[in-house]
Amino acid sequence: MSDISNYFDYAATTPVHPHVAEAMIPYFSESFGNPSSAHQWGQQAFAAVEEARESLSKHFHTGPENICFTGSSTESNNSILNHFVMSYWNENKKPGHLIISPLEHNAVGQTAKHLQDSGFCVVDYLPVNHHGIVNPNDLAGMIQKDTVLVSIIYGNNEIGSINPISDLGMICRSKNIPFHSDATQYAAHHMMDLQNLPVDFVSIAAHKCYGPKGIGALISSSKNKILPLIYGGRQENTQRAGTHNVPYIVGMARAYAILKSEYQDRSTTEKYFRDRIIHQILTTIPDSIVTGHPENRLSNHTSFAFRYIDGLSLLALMDQSGFAVSIGSACRSTLIKGQQQLRDIGLSDEWINGGIRITVGAFTTDRAVDELIITLARHVSFLRKYH
Ligand SMILES: Cc1ncc(COP(=O)(O)O)c(C=O)c1O
Repeated sequence: MSDISNYFDYAATTPVHPHVAEAMIPYFSESFGNPSSAHQWGQQAFAAVEEARESLSKHFHTGPENICFTGSSTESNNSILNHFVMSYWNENKKPGHLIISPLEHNAVGQTAKHLQDSGFCVVDYLPVNHHGIVNPNDLAGMIQKDTVLVSIIYGNNEIGSINPISDLGMICRSKNIPFHSDATQYAAHHMMDLQNLPVDFVSIAAHKCYGPKGIGALISSSKNKILPLIYGGRQENTQRAGTHNVPYIVGMARAYAILKSEYQDRSTTEKYFRDRIIHQILTTIPDSIVTGHPENRLSNHTSFAFRYIDGLSLLALMDQSGFAVSIGSACRSTLIKGQQQLRDIGLSDEWINGGIRITVGAFTTDRAVDELIITLARHVSFLRKYH
């Protein structure tokens, strides 16, 4: 395997923090009980789940009863859209109105489309500017009497821009419309206080924040009962059936507790590398632009478009040279998701094929950044020879 300092894809996933792994280990084969069992093994596991819930709820400034553990942020997003759309349908037997942005992660975008294609809702897309950011003034005009939910991504996974969540939330509050934000990327790098942020629900995952994969949560700012997506048990107040994944729940809570204690240092270091990479790429690689907002972006996130470059070829060359970067998740047959987002923010074909995401984290070093940029510049100039 390559040197871990050459890993520049922390937005895809992060390695598990050693203290997180340490906290999880006892719950695999020592305190292995099922939290739903009444005996002492079960109760020990139950106590661990409740302690994790308490810890996570304090981190997000909400009550423990407002944390619903899920198997991923994808599930959290599915769950909240399903809840509001299907509740309205069940009551009114007609489709409700759902507002999202065109730059949602597929976990929101495709769920909305599926619900619309099934006839359960009509989806409206809040326009984005050339930085991929929505305008709260547009939201006010788009809300209807039958709007069931507004769901807008907090920090964009592909282009890093941060949406004005507080202003959007104020508009939703003033019109009494539930507001959800996919905070999977944002919450992994920034502090969130649901007592002072006008957001009703957020989705998070552990693996973007040095926790394990396959565990997430849907967090609300006040008490709500969500329709289950998964039936067959009374876990999570019957909102999400299935035996609790105790070690992963413990791991997720520990990952966020560590984020809180290390936040200042992490944030300073991430921004230092982020801004260095942006500056160096723009000054050393001709015909390169930053995609997303140059400053109002996730603290660990950089993304670029290189004119007349095929991103897939660049990614492969970087991989051969030992560097992990990203061009977005391949989830459409003809278009890479990240590339679709570049089209949505108005870039032309000569740019969108050359979109690259470089995200930094715990193992990033100055030396690796220097080498990354030299290597990137070399491969870009090589590929351009064949354009
Ligand atoms: C913004 C955003 N939402 C949702 C997800 C999905 O999270 P999970 O991997 O927990 O399903 C991701 C993961 O890439 C993401 O970046």
